[in-house]
Amino acid sequence: MSATASQRDLLKQQIQDLLSSDLRAVQKLLSQQFSNPNMFVQDVAQHVSRFQGKQIRPILTLLSAKACGATAAQMTNVIRLAAVVEMIHSATLVHDDVIDDADLRRHVSTVHRRWNTETSVLFGDYLFSKAFHLAATTGDAEACRLIGRATNRTCEGELNQIAARLEQSKLESDYFRVIHGKTAQLFAVSCRLGARCAGASEDVQNRLSLFGCRLGLAFQIADDILDLTETAEQTGKDSANDLANHRLTLPILRALKEASGEDTLQLRELMDSNLPADRQRLKELPALRHGVLSAKATADELAGRAQKSLASLPQTQCRRVLEQLALFSVGRSN
Ligand code: IPE
Ligand code: IPE
Ligand code: MG
Ligand code: MG
Repeated sequence: MSATASQRDLLKQQIQDLLSSDLRAVQKLLSQQFSNPNMFVQDVAQHVSRFQGKQIRPILTLLSAKACGATAAQMTNVIRLAAVVEMIHSATLVHDDVIDDADLRRHVSTVHRRWNTETSVLFGDYLFSKAFHLAATTGDAEACRLIGRATNRTCEGELNQIAARLEQSKLESDYFRVIHGKTAQLFAVSCRLGARCAGASEDVQNRLSLFGCRLGLAFQIADDILDLTETAEQTGKDSANDLANHRLTLPILRALKEASGEDTLQLRELMDSNLPADRQRLKELPALRHGVLSAKATADELAGRAQKSLASLPQTQCRRVLEQLALFSVGRSN
């Protein structure tokens, strides 16, 4: 089931009601982290932080902590770790845009288009190291270990994506392995860290981590659908970038599986083409539309399974908002 526009507005309002002061604190910390006396570093940092993203990962950290009854004192570290996961996410995006040869990110030029690849590589590294440094200020060595492991697995996911592209693998198991690494790990750790800081039991931490993992998978499938269905104006990033990079994402794999005869030939021919006009034709093929619907059904199912992983948690407002976020993640339009 998809979220309607009014459900989305209501959810945004509920997040504001529950988290506005915590989100402001995260934002303040991020601005401090992004400020630098060196003019060039400051320019790049300002460019990258010009438009905020959806901030779903820090929101997950804050909500997970509150769903586990975090005290005001515990929130200090929760806020730091919420900023950490957003910084790691930003670092992966700066590097990912080089890997994907993308032009646009959050409605502005990508760092390598605005400057050059050296700047992207080094600025991404700079964000990673700043994030690890900030994590260390919590004094929680286990939290730092968890962040290191999740980041490691994120990079493995991006590396496996290269391998899958080189092999043009049509196995869904390869696709799921990639997104389980590149996206779901950071979602999972974002939730786990919130629960951990609130002193939740190992069992509750595992449930929240599983919630984040399933939500992350659904979120990435939705992103792969938006790549095919939305314009750059809507998403703030290149449309059909996955097609341009010959990436076999779930909607495309499902289209290939269902297509037959003439359709299959046309689908393959257009996928092999490097012409933007052919990418547009491909998006309009009935087989591709079918692939989108089929992938959407899988994302909905994963979001439903994410919601179920919270079943044993106390019925709090934060838990309800986490459940709604799962729904929002597949029904979103950017
Ligand atoms: C983009 O993440 C990368 C994916 C994992 C799909 P977001 O969609 O969370 O990006 P922003 O932060 O809102 O721009
Ligand atoms: C990237 O996936 C996920 C990361 C871990 C960086 P995508 O390549 O689909 O993300 P977008 O579409 O560029 O945001
Ligand atoms: Mg990308
Ligand atoms: Mg994408």
